[in-house]
Amino acid sequence: MTDILNLPASNVTGKRVLITGGASGIGAASALLLASRGAKVVIGDMNEELGASIARQGVDAGNSITFKKVDVTNGDEVRALFHFAMKELGGLDVVINNAGIDHNPKPMHELSDDDFDRSIAVNLKGVWHCMRAAVACMAGSGGGHVINVASIAGLRSAPLLSAYSASKHGVMGLTKSAAHEYARVNIRFNAVCPSFIDTPMVQNTMAKMDERAQKATINASPLRRLGKVEEVSSAIAWLASDESSFMNGHAFTLDGGMLA
Ligand SMILES: NC(=O)c1ccc[n+]([C@@H]2O[C@H](COP(=O)([O-])OP(=O)(O)OC[C@H]3O[C@@H](n4cnc5c(N)ncnc54)[C@H](O)[C@@H]3O)[C@@H](O)[C@H]2O)c1
Repeated sequence: MTDILNLPASNVTGKRVLITGGASGIGAASALLLASRGAKVVIGDMNEELGASIARQGVDAGNSITFKKVDVTNGDEVRALFHFAMKELGGLDVVINNAGIDHNPKPMHELSDDDFDRSIAVNLKGVWHCMRAAVACMAGSGGGHVINVASIAGLRSAPLLSAYSASKHGVMGLTKSAAHEYARVNIRFNAVCPSFIDTPMVQNTMAKMDERAQKATINASPLRRLGKVEEVSSAIAWLASDESSFMNGHAFTLDGGMLA
């Protein structure tokens, strides 16, 4: 048996990490936390102002974070982002596909083509663009770990958010299939599935709800509160460490017990 008492503590020091959607919410918290623990981080996001500001916050704290603008719906821009990260970091150990959008809550038959197409383009095709680029970077260099930020809406129904839910179920399909396909080249794929987390995305959705719906959203978890970004980013930081090394193809739920 391995000498269990001498295993190194979970850490991400020196890990080379690319995170999309790192300008806000879960992505920003994860980028800052990973960098504060010694990872070298590149943020890709379409919001230039916020992305540059998060990178500056990390650098001011003495950590390594760089920002590059990307729209994950554009395959060429995603390739350019990965090229940039490979040059900047000298390789990639962990890729966190977190960029995503929600849509205005409405019954499925009232969704416009644009609502549906946009959810799929950002949340599903955007993730696939990044998974494809990650494999190209990692396959020839010993492997790595791809962490997709899906949602509990990728595991169960999400009434009034059907296009969002469909996109996140798609991310689960990509994650599980890729976990089988690329294990032979030592690339692992896992998904993080949060419930409602207090971020600008959820605040924006809740602002469109009446008081009853807002309360129902908060009380959907047995813990009767929204999750905090730091509760998701700490889980992502553990996943990014070598302690998660036997986890592959898994949906890691962070939902205060909602699915229990
Ligand atoms: N907040 C929640 O309750 C919750 C729950 C489950 C899953 N998620 C998922 O977590 C991820 C992060 O969500 P958040 O709540 O932190 O949202 P957020 O709105 O705070 O952050 C999302 C980030 O993604 C970026 N982004 C959006 N479209 C992009 C594109 N086309 N290209 C590049 N960047 C783009 C935005 O600019 C923003 O910085 C999303 O994938 C979301 O679906 C969130």
